[in-house]
Amino acid sequence: MTSNEARHGGTSRMEAFRARIGGFAFGGDYNPEQWDRSVWDEDVALMRRAGVNLVTLGVFAWASLEPEPGRFTFAWMDEALDLLHAHGISVDLATPTAAPPVWLTDGHPEVHPVMEDGEVFGFGNRLHFDPTSPRYREHAARITTALAERYADHPAVAMWHISNEYGPVPYTPQSAVAFRDWLRRRYGTLEALNDAWYTRFWSQVYTSWDQVNPPEIPRSWSNPTRRLDYKRFVSDALLECYVMERDIVRAHRSDLPILTNYMRFYRHADYWRWAREQDAVALDIYPNPGHDDAFVSAAVNYDLMRSLRDEPWILMEQAASSVSQWQVNNVKRPGHLRLGSYQAIAHGADSVLFFQWRASRGGHERFHSAMLPHSGTGARSWQEVEALGTELPRIAEAVGATSRADVALLFDWNAWWGLTETHGLPRNDFDYPALVTDHYRPLLEAQHAVDMVNFDSDLSGYRVLVIPNAYLVDDRFTAEVSRFVHAGGTLVCSYFSGVVDARNQVRQPAYPGAFRALVGGYVDEYWPARENETFDVEFADGSTARADFWQDSIHPETATVLASYASGQLAGRPAILDNAVGAGRVVYVGTRLEADAFRDTLLGAVADAGVRPLLAGAPACVEATRRSTAEADYLFLLNHSETDPAEVPLPGAGQDLLTGKDATDPIVLAPLGVAVVRTASADAP
Ligand code: GLA
Repeated sequence: MTSNEARHGGTSRMEAFRARIGGFAFGGDYNPEQWDRSVWDEDVALMRRAGVNLVTLGVFAWASLEPEPGRFTFAWMDEALDLLHAHGISVDLATPTAAPPVWLTDGHPEVHPVMEDGEVFGFGNRLHFDPTSPRYREHAARITTALAERYADHPAVAMWHISNEYGPVPYTPQSAVAFRDWLRRRYGTLEALNDAWYTRFWSQVYTSWDQVNPPEIPRSWSNPTRRLDYKRFVSDALLECYVMERDIVRAHRSDLPILTNYMRFYRHADYWRWAREQDAVALDIYPNPGHDDAFVSAAVNYDLMRSLRDEPWILMEQAASSVSQWQVNNVKRPGHLRLGSYQAIAHGADSVLFFQWRASRGGHERFHSAMLPHSGTGARSWQEVEALGTELPRIAEAVGATSRADVALLFDWNAWWGLTETHGLPRNDFDYPALVTDHYRPLLEAQHAVDMVNFDSDLSGYRVLVIPNAYLVDDRFTAEVSRFVHAGGTLVCSYFSGVVDARNQVRQPAYPGAFRALVGGYVDEYWPARENETFDVEFADGSTARADFWQDSIHPETATVLASYASGQLAGRPAILDNAVGAGRVVYVGTRLEADAFRDTLLGAVADAGVRPLLAGAPACVEATRRSTAEADYLFLLNHSETDPAEVPLPGAGQDLLTGKDATDPIVLAPLGVAVVRTASADAP
């Protein structure tokens, strides 16, 4: 199957899925194998009471489905599927391959991954498999085939869920073999590999493929391009496991969506490549309820998920309340479950699903919250779950609605890996997700719609492109950015961008290699800040701001200077450049500005580009997004303040689907309040 077929097939399979569910999917992981049969009837009764219409069955259930090699125990799964179907609850059926049973790992110890520190990841957790292990793949294929044969036509099954949160990074002899094969496919010849890896440095020249191994543990100073290629390889090796299982299921049933679930800002898998191979993007996310601004990082992840396929996506897992992964696991305080769920929908989710339906009595996650908590239906969190499940059908007509943005923000795994995984940079403490989030936050707080893009994206539909600290950019993206700016686009680009090519080699003759002509200047030295060092920056209008962390020593060529340093060794030298290029403009920020000054610089460039926010004059605690169908626009308004109501100017009259009442300008949102305002489609004839 080509990626193109996968893409279009996925879109139509998801349309059919939405039609079947008839609105937003609501439910979660259901693990009946952990409970006596007598509990199941209460489960389905309470599911119906809470409005559950989809559960994910079978994640991690390998030992319960295949207790010995080749002996399958499907009776309980048959019964669970029949019971759910009889109660009108659809099933997202999972393959259980994220948790190999002990007979597999004891019988074939090579299934265990060796981690980057050299330790074997043993039995007793989950994800303890080496994706490059032929034995693992053979057994994963067998259980997947057995499930697909048995349940392909079961009427309860509405979606297939392959494995779970693919992730382990292996450093095993078999991963070395697979890495060499991957490198052969990428480079063709050893000469090309030696060139790409720059192996004459430190006498690292390879004369035979067998000499090439995964990078050794991080304490050593290893070849940066080898490290980079290993990241690319591991992402592809994990993806191969997914594709293998997907193809088995697809061979038995072609009309149901097949997907796997992603993690928040996950470092080891390039989800842009993955998204092409699945019918919809699905995300598991656990914003920390102990952090007041966790919703900002949630929003950027949601926009990433929406952008990966430029389609609505599935919120596959969230917590009803607390999790069990932090040192201290705070509860979601009253109102946050509802607000956070609508936030995901506002950014394109077509579901609100949880890990998990009923709280486990034992196991590591026994204190992870669930839709149905240990304390049952008397618990506050159950009441919030039930209220949400009862309310969601009011916005059912908005399911499948899409969105568009004028502002694009680069989020590329190669850029990430280059900056954080390859070492030996002028400073080695970059946090790529945090940097991207810093660039996203002002846009979110000003109610701008943002799409995420990667090196392969077509930029022609955007007016503004924001590039946060993309040390590594490939040639295709470099050319696309240049075309975008010449055609009239505005680029806002931060320090230490465009420096190396896809092989992690410095672009010459001067920094910032890929973007020198666009920036209209060159950088002769990078000046990471000394510990606690800060700089004064003075703007052309006389206003001042602080900066820290980094200074590009910039020499303008064609650019004008927007701001200069007013202290330190580089005093008087430019900190921010402004360059007119073709019909477009480039603002280059050569330092880390304090948040307010960066916000003003970024939003100023966005406003100059003629991009208007969704709302004019709303407070920063209000998040606003728009999803649209051919018939209507849906304005999602979310007040993140726990204490203050927010008065929000409405762009037009409409109806708040949650209250059923007319929404008039201005609309007032209670603390943590939500409104979903339907207006006539702006595009309607
Ligand atoms: C992940 C997994 C779930 C569960 C949750 C909560 O998202 O997919 O099985 O473990 O985390 O920690």
